[in-house]
This record gives sequence, C-alpha cells and structure tokens, in this order.
Amino acid sequence: MAINAKVPESWKGRKMQQDKLVSLFQAEFERCKVRKGENAIVLSGESGRAEYARAATEAIRNLGANVFEMRTPSVRREAVPGDSKVTIVGLTPISGNKLAVDTLKQADFVVDLVLLLHSPEQVEILSAGTRILMVVEPPEILERAKPTEELRNLVESGAEKLKRAKSLRIISDAGTDVEMRLGQYPVMTQYGFTDQPGRWDHWPTSFLYTWPNEGGTNGRVVISKGDFIWPLNRYLSDPITLVIEDGYIRTIEGGGPDAQLLREQMASFKDPEAYAVSHIGWGVDPHAKWDALLTQPDSVGTEPRSFAGNVQFSTGPNLEAGGKRHTLAHFDMPMLGCTLMLDGEPVVHKGQLVS
Ligand SMILES: [Fe+2]
Repeated sequence: MAINAKVPESWKGRKMQQDKLVSLFQAEFERCKVRKGENAIVLSGESGRAEYARAATEAIRNLGANVFEMRTPSVRREAVPGDSKVTIVGLTPISGNKLAVDTLKQADFVVDLVLLLHSPEQVEILSAGTRILMVVEPPEILERAKPTEELRNLVESGAEKLKRAKSLRIISDAGTDVEMRLGQYPVMTQYGFTDQPGRWDHWPTSFLYTWPNEGGTNGRVVISKGDFIWPLNRYLSDPITLVIEDGYIRTIEGGGPDAQLLREQMASFKDPEAYAVSHIGWGVDPHAKWDALLTQPDSVGTEPRSFAGNVQFSTGPNLEAGGKRHTLAHFDMPMLGCTLMLDGEPVVHKGQLVS
C-alpha cells in the first residue's frame, strides 16, 4: 500500500506531540492486553510513519513487554503487475521473506505500520496465534475515534445476526437491489483492538462483514453522489452502477468522471479477480465522521467505513476469509441511505441501524 507518509506539521518533531502519541498508543495497547513478558514486534518501513514506530515501541516497553522494530523496504512498484496508480493490497514488504514471516509468527503481538492486509503472509502469521494491529490512520483520527466496549458490543451483536443469515439483500432509493447467498465464509469483526490470539484488527474501526458465497451475488449496486470509494479516496460527484452476475461485476455504468475513473483503475490491474465481490457489511460508530477525508485527506477512509448505518460493498480478495482469491485490487465502497436485510429482516433501514 502506498501509505501516505506525510505527518501533519503540528505533529512533527515536537517532544510534547510525541509524548501524546506514546500516550495514545499505550492506551490502545492496553486495550490489546499487551503485558509484561509478551514479545512484540513493530513492523515498520519506508512507506510507514517513523513517528508511529517510535511511539509504538516506547508504549510497548512502558507496558513491560519485549519489543523491537522490524524495518522493511518499500514494495518495488515494478513488482506490481498492471499499471494501476492506486493503492494495492496483498503484496507487502515481507512477501516472499520467510525469515521475516517466521520471526513475526513467534511474536505475541505485531503492530503493522506497512499494511499486511489481504496478504498470504498475514494469514500465515495470524494462524500462529499472533495478534496483529494495523495502524495507518493519521494521528487526529487515532485520537478522535477511540475504540470502546460499547462499539465492540454493537459490532459483536451485529456479527451474531450476520452469522445466522443465509441471504443478504441490499436495496436503496438510488436503485441498488442486490442479493447474496451466505454461509460459505466466516463473519469478521473490526472493533479497533486485538485482545485474543490470532485476531487481526485495524485501529480505529467499527464495522463487521462477511463474504458472499462464491458466485452467489446477483443484482445492481448504485453508488450514489456523496458515497465514498477507497482507494480512489473520493466522495462521488456522480452515480456509478455496478451490474453484478454470479459474483462478479460485469459492467460499470455511468457517464460521469467518477465512473470513468473507476472503470480505468479497475481495468489497470489487468486481473479478472479485481471484479469479484469481496466483503459486505455495515458500520456501527455513531461518532465516526462521514466526511473525515475532506479535512484529513491522508486518511485511508476508516471513518466512512465505520460510520453508523453505512453499508459497505467491496471488490477483490478473500484470502483472510479462507478463500483462494488473491488479487492486488481491492475497492471498498461505503454507501449511505441503504437498507440491508438478512433473510428478509432489515438490520440497516435507509442508512439507520435497526436496534
Ligand atoms: Fe476492504
């Protein structure tokens, strides 16, 4: 992932601000139950935030755990097939590096500053029981969107409903009407911290999702004006319609520049799996800011994904669900105003959580 390494000026090189970062990280790692005697690694790299590596290391030491920083080189762009200009997933600074992967598997806790998400190596490290916490959002968002037990409960109660469901349907006034069969893949939760062996999470997020059965998605998804697409990192100015048959987007309709950009960027991967339906779910955080990227463009879109009542559609990989689809193309599309039904019962109604 081409993580933007810029740090706001107000956070640069000031002891007070670094202390504030350490304090934020330490509170987060306490939520992750990092404790004396544990072994931790801070996985950093040229594409990550050096301030975060320092703060994470100091915070872990403050909690009494053993820690060192594993610093990695950037992914070489020439290693990326196709001519995509957007952030990729699944090809990481430790892809093919057995020594690094084996070392990370021996840690109790890994702070991931380089984005291992959607990679085979992340799956392998988690399977060893290591907890992984991804941290890539700017400091203002880490400070604002604190994980809480209340949010965890909302995520987990939603996950219980999703686990029982055999079908999922999304409709909207904008014209979305898509149905998915469920049951093949597990439900996953993100509540912003990892306190159990083998659990991955991303600080700070609050949403849940699953993957539809292979070939089990049919219908139309209309991404409306004002909805968000990562990694384009854009709030749409014109609608886009995705026509989906048997689990793959077959047509991307829309005459505006956003539709054209999405068509170009998805095609740029030169990978048919870029068009596969990936994780589907909804956000629960009533305090998340939908328009966060208007004031913090360095964000990777955590808050739109977590925003209470957003319905998230996505495309690309399913490795972490236990599937076999590995693709570097991944697009998340949180949408407002949708109704999401599980076996016919709404859990989100016109963009509002159903309690
Ligand atoms: Fe995603």
